Amino acid sequence: MLVLGVLPLLLLQLRVPCRAADVPEDVTAEFSVRLYHQLRSSVGEENIIFSPLSVSVALGMVELGARGPTLNEIRQAVGYSNLKAGDEFSLLRNLTQALSAEETQNVVKLANALFLQTGVHYNPDFLQLMKKYFRAEIETVDFSESMAVAEHINTWVENHTESKIRNLLSADDFSSVTRLTLVNAVYFRGSWKNQFRPENTRTFSFSKDDGTEVQTLMMYQQGDFFYGEFSDGSTEAGGVYQVLEMPYEDEDMSMMIVLPRQEVPLATLEPIIKAQLLEDWANNVKKQKVEVYLPRFKVEQKIDLRENLQELGIKNIFTKDADLSAMAGEMADGKDLFIGKAVQKAYLEVSEEGAEGAAGSGMIALTRTLVLYPQVMADHPFFFIIRNRRTGSILFMGRVMNPEVID
Ligand SMILES: *[C@@H]1O[C@H](CO)[C@@H](O)[C@H](O)[C@H]1NC(C)=O
Ligand SMILES: *[C@@H]1O[C@H](CO)[C@@H](O)[C@H](O)[C@H]1NC(C)=O
Repeated sequence: MLVLGVLPLLLLQLRVPCRAADVPEDVTAEFSVRLYHQLRSSVGEENIIFSPLSVSVALGMVELGARGPTLNEIRQAVGYSNLKAGDEFSLLRNLTQALSAEETQNVVKLANALFLQTGVHYNPDFLQLMKKYFRAEIETVDFSESMAVAEHINTWVENHTESKIRNLLSADDFSSVTRLTLVNAVYFRGSWKNQFRPENTRTFSFSKDDGTEVQTLMMYQQGDFFYGEFSDGSTEAGGVYQVLEMPYEDEDMSMMIVLPRQEVPLATLEPIIKAQLLEDWANNVKKQKVEVYLPRFKVEQKIDLRENLQELGIKNIFTKDADLSAMAGEMADGKDLFIGKAVQKAYLEVSEEGAEGAAGSGMIALTRTLVLYPQVMADHPFFFIIRNRRTGSILFMGRVMNPEVID
């Protein structure tokens, strides 16, 4: 099992004249779901993959430097309105620490960096808070050397994603007015608690929603998982659908798969997805024996955050009205700063993989005819999230419309 991804990246440019307990609780689920629906409306029938947590962290980094309406816009859109001002920073720190602090088998790394134009003054308080809350590495570069800067930042990203994300930026992403670039990379490698045995993987047809079929490698296992059957009571969402939650090795992280009935297109089910529903699923799946057929799959996507966040009401930071004055040093005029570019690239690969010779439940013949346990047969499009089960943080969210076979 290898999952990985991502980095929202925010390029800042100079305007050309012109739960309080020890387990933090994520409050950004609503925002994450809204972003999912926004992407759905912009990508057509494609696969989707993005990291909601990574977007929240990147926006948190910008928010540290924001003031006035610019600040309020981010707070409202992301869902911090009910928190005391500034608490979101310690929340984000606590959430990211909860992902990586424990001695886990899974590897989750969040890496943040801030690249600053050499010779420009930034507010030392801002830089210090960036370190405090986001443990951001801070480096100075010369953005007018756009080719060298792109290479440097791309190497930094590769270094923090075990080389899975390459060539994120190119020279034309920078110009002489670029003053600051924020990069935030998430990398996750988890092995299933119950691994799939490679010898049980078979070639199988996957039926896409447009009616065509593709050949895919279908993994199989029977094991104890969290499982439930749900319906919103109307036939509009396609009736009963299945939710399967499969934990990773240390059980804090899990992948949740939501699958409509075979004859129901995913697009029929998707509109009912809401933050509250994610929670309902998590609270109502029950541990039981399930037969799982899951394709090996790979999804990859580069998202223009600027375009999509604007649709969700985060507009100010991208325009001349941006107030990022808290970033600027006394000499500089912070009113000249705004975000020129923001992208996220995410990559996810799901396979049997885990430590070799892994346990797995054994037994099982693929040809069994008598179905004793619920069967989850993901041979048609499905929705998924990868989340921290203690804090509710969503590391990845997406859907598989067409699994790309991993060789
Ligand atoms: C983050 O954790 C610290 C230390 O455990 C705690 O004092 C603080 O209240 C937490 N912040 C939030 C917003 O939950
Ligand atoms: C990437 O990693 C290599 C090898 O550890 C190191 O020498 C290099 O400085 C790193 N580059 C960046 C930009 O972080």
